[in-house]
Amino acid sequence: MITGKLITFEGIDGSGKSTQIKLLEAEFEKSGISYKTFREPGGTKLSEKIRAMLLDKENIELYSNAESLLFAAARAQLTAEQIKPALTKGECVICDRFTDSTIAYQGYGRGLNINKLELMNAIATDGLIPDVTFILDIDPEKASERMQTEAADRMESGGIDFFQKIRQGYYQIREQNQSRCIVINGEKSQKDISEEIHHIIMERFKKELSCSY
Ligand code: ADP
Ligand code: TYD
Repeated sequence: MITGKLITFEGIDGSGKSTQIKLLEAEFEKSGISYKTFREPGGTKLSEKIRAMLLDKENIELYSNAESLLFAAARAQLTAEQIKPALTKGECVICDRFTDSTIAYQGYGRGLNINKLELMNAIATDGLIPDVTFILDIDPEKASERMQTEAADRMESGGIDFFQKIRQGYYQIREQNQSRCIVINGEKSQKDISEEIHHIIMERFKKELSCSY
């Protein structure tokens, strides 16, 4: 039986997900909460190999359907090999991206059929749905300024228009999943965002998380 909580972070590239995950990990450590963190695509030996293929700028010939299926394959492996076993042990799982990234990027970004992608997600996760999802919302121009020092990967080469569509896509996802998804203003200070997220998690799951000490 699954008793742990699955917490996912979403948002466009450079929205501050990794930063906030590190801050949340520090809070969990302070409180002695048992957790595991994974990034998507990735998190297992096989899924990291798929990640390398997906982000390699040389792979310009990759079709959108093939891209979606590769993300799904990486997710299926990660869910079965790592996420479900950890949740079954009662651990909290933090994921840097999950199913909503496919809907936002391949659905709203690339224009693929959302219903088909949802079915693909359901197959990949065997029906697992996050307990809470934080969508870090930021203007794509600002996110791009934040990432100026890093070389862009294949997905990041999509341009500002691509990221505008994805940002709007995340708003739609939030509309359709109001109890699960929370949009956070990613342009606030790291500390303010982190306090907001920690507060929401504690408010929702304090009882369950304190059992995993
Ligand atoms: P993501 O994981 O979503 O791609 P990161 O956490 O790696 O984003 O952040 C991208 C860049 O923006 C990093 O250089 C990080 O230090 C910076 N950053 C993160 N959060 C903030 C914030 N709230 N305000 C200003 N800069 C931030
Ligand atoms: P990553 O560097 O992990 O993202 P970030 O820059 O936000 O830290 O790269 C993962 C890329 O893959 C990112 O551009 C989002 C994209 N992606 C999809 O298009 N679909 C998906 O299902 C997932 C999980 C990621």
